[in-house]
Amino acid sequence: MYGKRALITGAGRGIGLATAALFASEGAAVALADIDGAAAATAVAAIARAGGRALPLVADVSEAGAVAAMVEGAEHALGGLDILINNAGIVLPDDEGPVETPLAAWERTLAVNLTGVFLCCKYGLPALERAGGGAIVNLGSMVAFIGAAVPQIAYTAAKGGVVALTREIAVQYARRNIRANALCPGPVATPLTAAFFDTPEKLERRLVHMPLGRFGAVEEIARAALFLASDEASYVTGAAFLVDGGITAAYLTPE
Ligand SMILES: NC(=O)c1ccc[n+]([C@@H]2O[C@H](COP(=O)([O-])OP(=O)(O)OC[C@H]3O[C@@H](n4cnc5c(N)ncnc54)[C@H](O)[C@@H]3O)[C@@H](O)[C@H]2O)c1
Repeated sequence: MYGKRALITGAGRGIGLATAALFASEGAAVALADIDGAAAATAVAAIARAGGRALPLVADVSEAGAVAAMVEGAEHALGGLDILINNAGIVLPDDEGPVETPLAAWERTLAVNLTGVFLCCKYGLPALERAGGGAIVNLGSMVAFIGAAVPQIAYTAAKGGVVALTREIAVQYARRNIRANALCPGPVATPLTAAFFDTPEKLERRLVHMPLGRFGAVEEIARAALFLASDEASYVTGAAFLVDGGITAAYLTPE
């Protein structure tokens, strides 16, 4: 990873921040983009204090002009781009079943979680080509593969789209020295998930379904992103790489 140049969206906190910090500690130069400029700046300061090379960028990934400027800014400042980690994503509180979910919640979720990934690839792929090739890691989710009785219809549909879009890009760009993979986490302990498990009962009910009996840590997802983005994964493209503590492998969990 030493000397690689990576652009990571949604890097102000959570999985994106852990990934940026890990990449920087491995010697990559990282551009941390977030809709929350203050979070990106704080994250960059922490990485710089630890001796890493990092740059903050503000962008809403659902806006084409902002994404084009983000890619241009990162490419210019880092002297090129080798890696895109398209991680920014949201879960809206009114994203429920197909009947209950307001159209506005559906549209915003798709705009950030699916159109955002499309736009980052649309503007990011030419930058990777200019660098002679590279790697894309798009954040999917285990919900692209299994349904939940507590539905988030827009989020789930968007993540299914991310996995399909990633596969398509992998095939189209394989002969151009660009790999693309979808990293699909199970439930990870972040601010995004903490809001959903706010009582011991809700937490226990969920843990029952996890073979490893716990949520993942952001660092465990970051390490998978590091592998997929690195030359160690040189024969891995078009994959949906599950890091879910065994959830999608299980029908019944151990007593
Ligand atoms: N946490 C989990 O359990 C889990 C599980 C599966 C997949 N994921 C996916 O991993 C990714 C990161 O999740 P997280 O848990 O770290 O989330 P998080 O909410 O902790 O962090 C998301 C970051 O993205 C930023 N962001 C939100 N909307 C944006 C936009 N329009 N443009 C740019 N930045 C934006 C936020 O400001 C925030 O810093 C998401 O794509 C999420 O769907 C998370």
